[in-house]
Amino acid sequence: MNILGINAYHGNASAAIVCDGRLVAAVEEERFNRVKYAAGFPAQAIRYCLKAASLTLSDIDHVAVPRNPYARLATKLFYALRMPSFARERAKVLTKFTGIPKALAQAFEADPKELSAKFHRIEHHQAHLASSFYCSPFESAALLSADGLGDFASTMWGTGNGSRMKIDGVVTFPHSLGLFYSAVTQCLGFLKFGDEYKVMGLAAYGQPDQLEALRDIVRFNPGSANNGFSLGLDYFSHHRTGPEMSWAEADKTPSLGKLFSNEMEKRLGPARGAEQVLEQRHRDLASSLQARLEEVYLGMLKKLAERTELKAVCLAGGVAFNCVANGKIFDATSFDQVYVQPAAGDAGLAVGAAYHVWHQILAKPRSFVMDHAYWGPEYSRDEIRQAIESSGMAQNGCTIAELPEEELVRHTAAIVAEGKILGWFQGRAEWGPRALGNRSIVADPRRPEMKEILNQRIKHREIFRPFAPSILAEATSEYFEKSHPSPFMTLAYSVRPEKREKIPAPTHVNGTGRLQTVTREANPRYHALISAFRDLTGVPVVLNTSFNDNEPIVCRPEEAIDCFKRTQMDALVLGDFLITRG
Ligand SMILES: [Fe+2]
Repeated sequence: MNILGINAYHGNASAAIVCDGRLVAAVEEERFNRVKYAAGFPAQAIRYCLKAASLTLSDIDHVAVPRNPYARLATKLFYALRMPSFARERAKVLTKFTGIPKALAQAFEADPKELSAKFHRIEHHQAHLASSFYCSPFESAALLSADGLGDFASTMWGTGNGSRMKIDGVVTFPHSLGLFYSAVTQCLGFLKFGDEYKVMGLAAYGQPDQLEALRDIVRFNPGSANNGFSLGLDYFSHHRTGPEMSWAEADKTPSLGKLFSNEMEKRLGPARGAEQVLEQRHRDLASSLQARLEEVYLGMLKKLAERTELKAVCLAGGVAFNCVANGKIFDATSFDQVYVQPAAGDAGLAVGAAYHVWHQILAKPRSFVMDHAYWGPEYSRDEIRQAIESSGMAQNGCTIAELPEEELVRHTAAIVAEGKILGWFQGRAEWGPRALGNRSIVADPRRPEMKEILNQRIKHREIFRPFAPSILAEATSEYFEKSHPSPFMTLAYSVRPEKREKIPAPTHVNGTGRLQTVTREANPRYHALISAFRDLTGVPVVLNTSFNDNEPIVCRPEEAIDCFKRTQMDALVLGDFLITRG
């Protein structure tokens, strides 16, 4: 039985395919159309998924769409009556969603009548919860989904047991922890869709001196019977102007309208313009924001743990990307196991909707665990060789060698240990926004100057944003104060004080690292590279940042080569090929 999951007409458009309960492929549209967080209809992602599963559209039995325009209809109607512009937006969205079968047929030049698949509308947060629980290794777990907004809700919690999920509560529009974080992010002058993670990095440079004000802006009573929270609505504008995300027709770049009101500026100080200098008060506000998010998020999780008496928790939604807060779950709650799927945000809905159909609707038993993130496109030796040949790199003074794995890994580790910057392209592309050793830029973590070098020469990003460490899983407790696996870089832990000077480049200013724990089983070649680096240097860690320069992570070998050529990377590994300059 073949189930196609499609996240369409929403940020992070994506597709996934599940065949007889096994995930075969999952990918975001942005990897193909090269527009970060691209919305719209993910035709190329669907095409790739079908190809990876060797199927055609007519082989699909079920199509799962993670949105149900009829969910919370009464609330939607209430707001539609108060806001005509919102009503118009909703009508547009409804038309788009009911048109998905037609869009699918059109993208494949098929007759809609030939589509035999049954279409399912899965409520947004149930798809989020499914994306985490049904991919987790847990038989039973508490579940929490928290994000900006989807199907008029921002937060949902419940429990999962075997192949069933039970929903226990929901926070609906206009109250949203994700929109709270986004509103203050906008106030700090970060206006692009998806900029919240920048503010999380900035938070470490400030003091939470505005925490009291933020406690009024998002209200949470840990003693109350309800697990929920509420926004001080005077500080926001989305409940007056309408909450819909929009996107540019030309390139599908998503955007959110202004979320904060004048009251927020009166309370927190004037909003920073995007080009304005970052002052200490901005850093302090970022710190206060992060602190308040943690109070509410961890408070909700603590109550969830107490109520369910479960030890494992599965998280999803954009808020679940807050690795700093996630890293504190073990101390703040009685949970001792945490699972966050690599595409915890809206891209992950494609996987969640498909698994929701498989388990919740078709009542099939569990048989799958997502224990690695490599579900995207891969390229053969011949395709890589051809890309290298047509790039003209050999004629332009590059040295190109095809090497057996052991030699390749040994040479490459030595290049990194010399302080050079390496592009590392292997196997299937990662699912989710983090490069996890298949589309990564790798550098020496021991050099304090490496962060600046990477920013100047390649990444061109804000200096306050940290770089991340990849560590051999077996060495985690040697370097970090927690050792629970973090295979998808969704948890940040404190680096042990005595180790901070050993890996200064990926250690953030507050002594934490958003680590990736690497096992031989999940990624044998990346594990071998880090092991070879450890053999040379005694340090079982490399600095890992995504293979890109202010663009979606590279997908094809040609894009990796382009990035290598236009930046000042020193060496590039594409499959078995090692390319060095000069
Ligand atoms: Fe969402």
